[in-house]
Amino acid sequence: MALTVGLAYNLKTHLPWGRGNVEDEAADFDDPQTIREIAEALEAGGHRVVHLPYDAGLFAALERSRPDVVFNLAEGWGDRNRESIVPAMLEYLGIPYTGSDPLTLGCALDKHWSKLLVTQAGLPTARSFKVSPGAAIPADLGGVRFPMFVKPNAEGSSKGIRFSSKVTSLSELEAMVEWVHQTYDQPALVEEYLPGREFSIGLLGNGHRLRSLPLVAVRPGKDVPEVALGADPANEFIYSYEVKHLNLETAECPAAVPDALTQRIEDLAMAVWQVFECRDVARVDFKLDIDGEPSFLEINPLPSLSREWSFLALEGRAVGLDYSALILSILDECLIRCGLADDTAAGRWAKWRAESQNSPRVAGSGN
Ligand SMILES: Nc1ncnc2c1ncn2[C@@H]1O[C@H](COP(=O)(O)OP(=O)(O)OP(=O)(O)O)[C@@H](O)[C@H]1O
Ligand SMILES: [Mg+2]
Repeated sequence: MALTVGLAYNLKTHLPWGRGNVEDEAADFDDPQTIREIAEALEAGGHRVVHLPYDAGLFAALERSRPDVVFNLAEGWGDRNRESIVPAMLEYLGIPYTGSDPLTLGCALDKHWSKLLVTQAGLPTARSFKVSPGAAIPADLGGVRFPMFVKPNAEGSSKGIRFSSKVTSLSELEAMVEWVHQTYDQPALVEEYLPGREFSIGLLGNGHRLRSLPLVAVRPGKDVPEVALGADPANEFIYSYEVKHLNLETAECPAAVPDALTQRIEDLAMAVWQVFECRDVARVDFKLDIDGEPSFLEINPLPSLSREWSFLALEGRAVGLDYSALILSILDECLIRCGLADDTAAGRWAKWRAESQNSPRVAGSGN
């Protein structure tokens, strides 16, 4: 079925206002190439694409163009509600859109709240405390022991993550918390430092159609500076803005790890998806704790879909979903969820889904 698909996005090249003092200010936003490639993928599926860049004219453009559905990539501008803004506009206008709703996006962007939800569900995540600007670091350090890891509470794309985010003394902790407050104008989240390997996993679908994509192991590449490496330098490092920006990491997909660990991370990711009532697509990040057990870092219900470097694109390729098929699969899952297509229509990844052993192991229908 050929549809008019609105493509909503923030471009790196279009910053309306900013704090102006942060080198990673636009790190969440897409480059023009990604937008072009996603538009081409949608057009390859027979759809007509209407571009909807995020700016002051967006609401009027949506009202005017009234697309059948919006493919949402828009990160928004502002604080922890920024990713919720476009979905909220679309709900107001009654236009269906890909991905999760404003509440899920807001809760997931707030790392402290995410961890409260995940903990409440009995899922593992590092012990932590939050320090708002103007508030003191708690005298008991929230029961967290050194080394600790300090990050802005509501950023993504490793914004505010530096090699110095790992702190080993009270003076380093105070300095990093102050830096987060000054630079990002928001609370700092202080977590127990997780010394193990890092993994990321994408999920695609809804309800009984939900599947996890193959697990990615994130490793330090050969040019990662020593300061970022952990006790096991072949595997363990700080995946900071410095590393991400210069693409110094390597991503192995499917991760060569014991089946039991893959299975455990898949199960946890599915459970986290249910907690957040995600829709269509998301990516969940984990790191191993000191006992080698996976610990939830964060969920990204608005994950990067860059063809060149996103984990989702890599995971798609690993199961034979080329880029166009991945993008169209996300759209198809949205259309099925909204009753705009029947579930036999989503043929793009049906073959892989049908062959996949990876059936949902968590009860509940998702959202
Ligand atoms: N508690 C921790 N212990 C050790 N390393 C951590 C911890 N928290 C975060 N990190 C490191 O910092 C990186 C970024 O952290 P996190 O995933 O929370 O931030 P993000 O900016 O939202 O990431 P993304 O780019 O995936 O959106 C992680 O990939 C990991 O390498
Ligand atoms: Mg992350």
